[in-house]
Amino acid sequence: MEVIIRPTADAAAELVARIIAKELRANPSLVLGLATGRTMESLYAKLVRLHHEEKLDFSLCRTFNLDEYVGLSGSDPHSYRHYMNRHLFAQVNIDLRSTYLPNGMAADLDAECARYEELIARSGGIDLQLLGIGRAGHLGFNEPLSALRSRTRVKALSPLTRAQNAPLFDSPDQVPHRAITMGVGTILDGRRCLLLATGDEKADIIAKAVEGPITAMISATTLQLHPRCTVVVDEAAASKLQGADYYRWIFANEPEWEPFR
Ligand code: GLP
Repeated sequence: MEVIIRPTADAAAELVARIIAKELRANPSLVLGLATGRTMESLYAKLVRLHHEEKLDFSLCRTFNLDEYVGLSGSDPHSYRHYMNRHLFAQVNIDLRSTYLPNGMAADLDAECARYEELIARSGGIDLQLLGIGRAGHLGFNEPLSALRSRTRVKALSPLTRAQNAPLFDSPDQVPHRAITMGVGTILDGRRCLLLATGDEKADIIAKAVEGPITAMISATTLQLHPRCTVVVDEAAASKLQGADYYRWIFANEPEWEPFR
């Protein structure tokens, strides 16, 4: 794992956008794993800008989102399909037929989860998995006690997660109780993982995810098992990291990061 600390949330999102752009330019058929949440909004705005200003080309790439609420259709403004169309897909030259999210309205949810895993496998697996982190440390909706080897399945959302996502709904009781999410094992199968977290409210959980013991209580701790994981944070989210000086030294000295400094 590498941890990169940028001065501001904007600079952190900019770096993540540059990493994604570099991967996409190197492999235009990239299979990209995508995430939702407020943190990602500025990142997607930057990818849209790179598309317009630097001709970043999404026409051949395929995307798989981490999760979707159960019971919301893609036309519901609170669905993650709606979020993705609005913040990214409708603003770049991606083929919508190559953008996948689990179908939270499927009559048979277990079959839908199996179908989603199958689609990822048939696409050759995820090359680059973008991740946010919930305040309780979930990746996607892998809530506390998610098995380290779990695959795409339906999860009940914890009260903390529902409260955290409530401001995005008209009222707290509108937040769905369940979601389909890629499993921890599905996420760890991605060839590269890239986590973006910003703001003070993520400082405690980032310290646990990066420096704490691996536990099913905090699915983000499992990223410590991943052979190629980059965590990008701003100063606020980095404020509880004990090894911050060392992480800064790595970023300043590793040749890989030269073009991004
Ligand atoms: C939701 C998503 C997560 C995301 C989290 C963080 O719970 N399922 O994938 O990481 O929100 O959201 P925010 O960026 O709004 O803090």
